[in-house]
Amino acid sequence: MDDGTWWTVGELAQATGVSVRVLRHWDALGVVSPERTPSGHRRYGPAHVTRLYRATALRRTGLGLRQIAALLAQEDPDPAATLRAHLDDVEEDLRRRSQLRDRLRAALESPEPDQLTKVIETMTMFEQYVHGYRSEESTRLTDQADALAELLHAGIRFRPGERVLEMGCGVGAQTVTLASRSPHAHFVSADIAPDSLKSASRRVAAAGLANVEFAEKDVFALPEREGGFAEASFDHVFVCFLLEHLPSPADALRRLRRLVRPGGTVTVIEGDHGSAYFHPDDEAARAAIACQVTLQRHAGGDALIGRRLFPLLHEAEWSDIAVTPRTVYVDGSRPDLAESFTRRTFTAMVSGVREPAVAAGLTDPDTFDAGIAALRRTAEPDGVFCYTFFKAVAHRPT
Ligand SMILES: C[S@@+](CC[C@H](N)C(=O)[O-])C[C@H]1O[C@@H](n2cnc3c(N)ncnc32)[C@H](O)[C@@H]1O
Repeated sequence: MDDGTWWTVGELAQATGVSVRVLRHWDALGVVSPERTPSGHRRYGPAHVTRLYRATALRRTGLGLRQIAALLAQEDPDPAATLRAHLDDVEEDLRRRSQLRDRLRAALESPEPDQLTKVIETMTMFEQYVHGYRSEESTRLTDQADALAELLHAGIRFRPGERVLEMGCGVGAQTVTLASRSPHAHFVSADIAPDSLKSASRRVAAAGLANVEFAEKDVFALPEREGGFAEASFDHVFVCFLLEHLPSPADALRRLRRLVRPGGTVTVIEGDHGSAYFHPDDEAARAAIACQVTLQRHAGGDALIGRRLFPLLHEAEWSDIAVTPRTVYVDGSRPDLAESFTRRTFTAMVSGVREPAVAAGLTDPDTFDAGIAALRRTAEPDGVFCYTFFKAVAHRPT
């Protein structure tokens, strides 16, 4: 502190308990941007501290960082609508949790001997896919999309007037990036989950985008006769983190091919948890990731699907397939990425399977927690984390 009015980033971290890493990340995102000294060091005054207080309070409600930045900068065109939308998400989350509690109680009270299988089955049915639909999950997906937008979306541009189907849009985390980068293309963003579609539509409206319409569809009921879209009615299809959850991804890709005009394209983006390696290496961390992979397999998906994109697209009869690995490499020189990707994206995703992994007997709470702590540890200044996404582009044969 120089005259009692200003704080350095270290002093503020010490005084508030918000880490230096988080303060730097929030600065990068415009959540709390301090002044700079002539030598370029951050310095925080009372107004920044007030803003930090408001930002941490908003963060506790589960709002995404970009939403918070817009609210605090008063750039959100309708702050009340953003908060109402968030309240809807929280209420929906509470409704689902109380439904889950009732079902778990019922399953545990059941006289059947194989209670555990029944509990797992109930949770799997309820959550529909391994990541679930909780509001933490929607915050995680938004943070993930922000952190990865450039890595994953570089090179994706659709021409004015083209019709693009985004299948499995979820809460719209990719939709906003897609639609804002191709403002004159028209997007139909579809998902099987109506609640996610509602959140997506609010997110797109809050971003001021008018080139997206939403549709509730199941990728396995896509031909027109099954209530889906007309054959060859799109120029392109985009899917991101969808195939990893599907029991038959090649079938989904085949159905999507029929919706694209001859010569049109599909863009597929998937991760591969086998590609995660890190320093310090840690057995418990690898075991925690393996829990996620196993649970996803039990739910009918494949968390290692990135490496299969070429064979899957080939099997689904797409042509001119080009797959590019997109690696996220994080070390101490990128504290923002360590926070947004290593911690808030990857580690948050793995830690989300704690309860089902313990319930399924794949791990015990202490081992799992040690694995999560070791993953978080890789985001320290002397840690390193690597993960590879796979992006494929292919054409419908003419
Ligand atoms: C991990 S989320 C990815 C969301 C979004 N693409 C993103 O990158 O943030 C997977 C989405 O696929 C949707 N989904 C799962 N099975 C589906 C199906 N059979 N048809 C359509 N969507 C499905 C889920 O509801 C969920 O929203």
